[in-house]
Amino acid sequence: MPGRHFLQIPGPSNIPARVLKAMDRPVINHRGENFAVITKDIFPKLKQVFKTGHGTPIVFPSSGTGAWEASLVNTLSPGDAVLAFVIGHFSGEYAQAAQNLGYAVERVELPWGSGISGEQVYEELSKDKAHRFKAVLTIHNETSTGVMTDLKSIREAMDRAGHPALLLVDSVSGLGSLDLRFDEWGLDVLVTCSQKGLLLPPGLGLLCVSEKALLAYQAAQTPKHYFDWGAMLEKNPAGFFPYTPASQLLFGLNEALDMLLEEGLEQVFARHARYAEGVRRAVRAWGLKILAAKPEEASNVLATVMLPEGVDSNALIEYTEREIELALGNGLGPLNGRAFRIGHLGDLNELEVLATLAGTEMGMRAMGMNIPLGSGVAACQEWFLDGR
Ligand SMILES: Cc1ncc(COP(=O)(O)O)c(C=O)c1O
Repeated sequence: MPGRHFLQIPGPSNIPARVLKAMDRPVINHRGENFAVITKDIFPKLKQVFKTGHGTPIVFPSSGTGAWEASLVNTLSPGDAVLAFVIGHFSGEYAQAAQNLGYAVERVELPWGSGISGEQVYEELSKDKAHRFKAVLTIHNETSTGVMTDLKSIREAMDRAGHPALLLVDSVSGLGSLDLRFDEWGLDVLVTCSQKGLLLPPGLGLLCVSEKALLAYQAAQTPKHYFDWGAMLEKNPAGFFPYTPASQLLFGLNEALDMLLEEGLEQVFARHARYAEGVRRAVRAWGLKILAAKPEEASNVLATVMLPEGVDSNALIEYTEREIELALGNGLGPLNGRAFRIGHLGDLNELEVLATLAGTEMGMRAMGMNIPLGSGVAACQEWFLDGR
């Protein structure tokens, strides 16, 4: 089909032409000085995007799941107790990863559609007088439900409970789209990856590590090799890696970080908030609901839209992809068949948001739903015009 494919899943997101161009170059010797020049550039820029002065960024050739693993095996010892807050598919998988790696995971299962509240964290940690939990697993943006968690309130709750556990945060679908303040919010390990707000193809797993997490690394007894921070920390300051890095992705990362910093992080976050509000207004105009229960927790990265009984979201997604080149996200876990997800993150403008909504309307009509064509588009257009 001519024209562009509309990749509107909640990551991987669309790759800007500038980033594609930056990667379109010959591979160079990853142990040579020319390579080090580029990689040495990346770390200070990552620190700006992570909003950290004290944290150490680490970049693995891996997906987000690999970065989860790195956050665990470098800070914990076999059998350590971990408290995991589960609010959807991905926070559940993070907990599962910890369990599979042999840690004693206690899951706090919260309703899908809610965020993690400081109160819940306080309640759980204040019961742990013996400080059994070595780490608390949380998620910034739950990509299955379209819900954001206020990380500042989590740190405040941990401090109020006087609990020394490390705060591990999955911001795989938050970083680069939602405000994240590594130092100010007292995060210990931030986990993210390349294919969402960082505007790159899949293939990089990134972390930011606090001084406290580095101390935990010294004591952590879990066997590790590929994901060992030590080798990275030894080589990275000179611009090198302990094994062959994903060179092209690093060239792309350098460019993508420039793009985010040139636009200005606050502007990037405001743009995402603006698109999200437009999409939420469209969903309301369709007479549908998003899963997020509280307006302040509704994600600025994606909307998880619930369909009425009898409409199969998988059929809708198949239709839009086959007929009009629009890729929407499917419902995950118990939401499969019942919900679909609209990603509105990364390299995106207002007209692309509107086209996504127009295509979604066509798909829903093709599924026999009684949605007036243009209703969601118009609601979103009004919002975009109002904000001028
Ligand atoms: C919040 C969140 N965490 C973790 C992951 C896993 O990342 P990956 O698929 O890159 O391993 C995803 C993937 O979509 C995600 O959205």
